[in-house]
Amino acid sequence: MRRKWFAALLAGALVTAGVTGCGGDDAGSGSGSGSGGDKITMGFSQVGAESGWRTANTKSIQESAASAGITLKFSDAQGKQENQIKAIRSFIAQRVDVIAFSPVVESGWDTVLKEAKDANIPVILTDRAVDSQDTSLYKTFIGSDFVLEGKKAGEWLVKEYQGKNDPVNIVELQGTPGAAPANDRKAGFADVIKADPKFKVIASQTGQFTRTDGKEVMEAFLKTYPDIDVLYAHNDDMGLGAIEAIEAAGKKPGKDIKIITVDAVKDGMTALSQGKINYIVECSPLLGPQLMDLAKKVKAGEQIPNRVLTEETTFDQEQAKAALPSRKY
Ligand code: AHR
Repeated sequence: MRRKWFAALLAGALVTAGVTGCGGDDAGSGSGSGSGGDKITMGFSQVGAESGWRTANTKSIQESAASAGITLKFSDAQGKQENQIKAIRSFIAQRVDVIAFSPVVESGWDTVLKEAKDANIPVILTDRAVDSQDTSLYKTFIGSDFVLEGKKAGEWLVKEYQGKNDPVNIVELQGTPGAAPANDRKAGFADVIKADPKFKVIASQTGQFTRTDGKEVMEAFLKTYPDIDVLYAHNDDMGLGAIEAIEAAGKKPGKDIKIITVDAVKDGMTALSQGKINYIVECSPLLGPQLMDLAKKVKAGEQIPNRVLTEETTFDQEQAKAALPSRKY
C-alpha cells in the first residue's frame, strides 16, 4: 500500500516537472538504475527550447546518450528554475546514476545540489555554470567560456572602428536575465570596449534569447534611437529577430547597422554569409559526446577535470560561406 502511494506521488512529480524518458526507459517507473549495474541512467534537465542553439544541444545530448548506451531521462524546464529544481528532485527520488543540467540562471542551486550530494548522486553542469561557492556540490562543468565570447565580440568591434573618432552608438540585446551567458557575454564585451570612450552602449535590454523578443525589443530601440550604429546580440536568434525589425524600419542590417551575434547556428551563419550579420562568435552546442564520456568516467570512479572547456572559433562573412555547407546545426 505504502509503495503504491509512493509510486503515485512520484508519477505526479514527474508530470509536473515535464520529465520524459528516452531510449525506451519508463520515466514513471521510479526504479532507476543507480544500484550498481553496468548500465548508466542519466537525468538531464534542459533549459527549454528558446533558440536554435538549444534545439541542437538537446539533439546532441539525446543522440549521444543513445549511442553511448546511456538511458536518458530528459526534462524540459521551459525556462523556469522551479521546474529544474523539481526535475532534479525527481531524479534523486528515482536514484539515477548521474544528474546533468544546464542551469536556467546562475544563482539559487545550493539546496538542491546538496540534496543530490547527500544522496550520493554526482552532478555534471552542462553548458552553463552556477555561482555556488561550494564546488564540491558538482563534479565538473563542461561548456564555453562566455566572458571570452563577449571579449571576442568587443575585439572585432574595436578593430572595425580603428582609426575612426566619431562616437559609435551600440544597442545590446541581452540573454535571459541572471543566466551565465547573459551576465558573462555582457561583462566580456564591456571590458574590451571600455578602453575607448567613443564606444557608447546607448541601450541594453533582455531579448530572452528568443527571436520574437529580439524583434520586439529592436523595434522599440529603433523608435527611441534614430542613430544606432551597432547591434550586439547575445545570440543568433535575437539577432535574427532584430534583422526583421531593422528591415521593417527601412534600414539595411549589416550596413546601416552593423551586427555582432554569438552562437553560429545555421540560420545565423546564413545571415552572415548574406552580409546581414557582420560577425559571429561561435558557441558550440555539441556537448553530448563529452558529457556521456564524463558520465561513464564518474560512474567508474575515475578522476575527471573540474572544468572541461569547449573549443570555439569566430566567423566573418567569407568564413561563414566556407563553413556553411558542412554546418551540422
Ligand atoms: O547557454 C547557451 C546559450 O543559451 C546560447 O548562446 C543561446 O542561444 C541559448 O539559448
